[in-house]
Parts: sequence; C-alpha cells; structure tokens
Amino acid sequence: MTIRAASLILLFGATLAAAQCAQVHIFGARETTAPPGYGTAASVVSSIISAFPGATGEVINYPACGGQASCGGVSYASSAVQGVAAVASQVNAFNSQCPNAVLVLVGYSQGGQIMDDAYCGGGDTNEGLSSTAIPISAAAQKKIAAAIFMGDPRHIPGLSYNVGTCQASGFAPRPTGFQCPYASNIQSYCDAADPYCCNGSDANTHQGYAVEYGAVALTFVKNKVNALLSGGGSGGGTTTVGTTTPPSSPTGGSVAHWGQCGGQGWTGATACQAPYTCQAANAYYSQCL
Ligand SMILES: *[C@@H]1O[C@H](CO)[C@@H](O)[C@H](O)[C@H]1NC(C)=O
Repeated sequence: MTIRAASLILLFGATLAAAQCAQVHIFGARETTAPPGYGTAASVVSSIISAFPGATGEVINYPACGGQASCGGVSYASSAVQGVAAVASQVNAFNSQCPNAVLVLVGYSQGGQIMDDAYCGGGDTNEGLSSTAIPISAAAQKKIAAAIFMGDPRHIPGLSYNVGTCQASGFAPRPTGFQCPYASNIQSYCDAADPYCCNGSDANTHQGYAVEYGAVALTFVKNKVNALLSGGGSGGGTTTVGTTTPPSSPTGGSVAHWGQCGGQGWTGATACQAPYTCQAANAYYSQCL
C-alpha cells in the first residue's frame, strides 16, 4: 500500500516534470561512423546548451553510416534518408509537446546533410529522397531559430550562409541555383581542403570545424535564439523584452565576425569589430562580414 502510493507520487512527479518545457532545445546529428551521441558536434552542442539556462539537448537517432560494418553496414543513402525522417519526427514530437520552445539544429557532415534536407527541403536525389517538401511541420519550422551545418556534403558555392574557404561543391551537392527558405537562420561551415563538403583532400580539415568555428557558431546561434525569444509573435512567452536592458556593449566595434549587427527588431550592438562591416542579408538580419 505504502509502496504503491509512493510509486503513484513518483509517476505524478515524472508527468509534471515532462510538462515543464525548456525555453531552448538543441538537436544534434553526428557524422558517419561516429558512435551514438553528438559526434564531433558535441562541443558545439554543449556550448549552446550552456549559453541558455535550462536549455536541453537531444541526439538525432539515426544510423550515421556509410556501409561500414561498425555501424551495421547501412548504406549512406539509406542512413541519410532515415536521418531526415528522424530529424522531422523528433523535431515535430518535441514541438508538439513544447510548442513555445525555441529550437536549434546542429549537424556534422552526414548529420549536416540530414539537417539541411529536413530544414530546407528540396529533396535529395543523391540519396534517393524524392519528396521535395520540408518534412518538419509548419509550426516547428517557425520555432527553429538557427541551424549550424559543419562539413555538409550538400555544400555548393555561392549560398548566402556559406562560411569558410570552399569554392566548390561537396559530394552530394544541392542543384545549382538552390535556395533555402531559411537561409538567414543558417551558417554552413566548409573549407577548401575538405574532401567531403568541398573538393580538397585533407580529412583533418573536415574533422576540425568544431574547434575552428565553434565560437563564431555559438555567437550566431545566441543572436538568432535571443532574437526569436524576444521577438513578437508566438515565441518565448516567459522572456521579458529588454527595453530597459541596454545592449551588452553599445559603443562601436563590439560585434565579432559573422555576428548579427542589425535587422528589424534587433536591439543589440550594431558596430562591427574591424575590419568587418555590417551588411544586410535581408530586412530581418544584418551580419558583420
Ligand atoms: C576545387 O574547385 C575550385 C573551384 O572550382 C578550383 O579552383 C580548384 O582548383 C579545385 N581544387 C582541386 C584540388 O581540384
């Protein structure tokens, strides 16, 4: 009797805890053959979690395989298609449970490819994904503040969200002229020496993005998440809009390379560190470039 009552209390407590939603939730997808977890994106994911009190993280549950025995022999194409479906179902499930939470996507290599496909749509004929629809629900799409792709094989030159020295295509490139409807929420990191997102031959470059770009990726994500948390509309019910809080550094030259420096609703610093200048990507987003 006592034990039963205690279990009921525990069950009730668990239900209450589940109903308490984090304000910010990060999804991370690892690269091919990395063991289950966030893979090489781990430090990026944890830096974002640490930046927002109470933020939570979630691993995308997919094979992350390219035919190797160590990951079950699942082909790259099958793994990627399963990965896109996993991103959509996990993001949609979380959004249904926590509709006000602001979401961030982080994907490394194949993990970047599945985040790219799930968030931007357009299909992925390289892997046999023929549907061009965005599989993430319309409601969840609105809550995604930022997406970070590192070493994404879908890289092509010329996209507004490309960061790094790569001027060529990855091994599973987007078609020429591709546009992602969420371009202003994305940073895609790829350097010329990378053999997977670019046409280089140095695998170490491919594995180095979390170290090379982790800090600028975090700055980008913080700015985008804060903008969605404090922006009007349906977002961030518990956040106070900072009309009385001055920007962290209102004097000139405080925004780092790639950081946000303007756009409709932006209340943060607007002056870029030398030698960068503030350039408008669209009405809602300007960046130090
Ligand atoms: C990679 O592509 C770029 C742009 O087309 C080209 O200039 C460069 O020579 C290529 N590098 C290699 C190693 O093929």
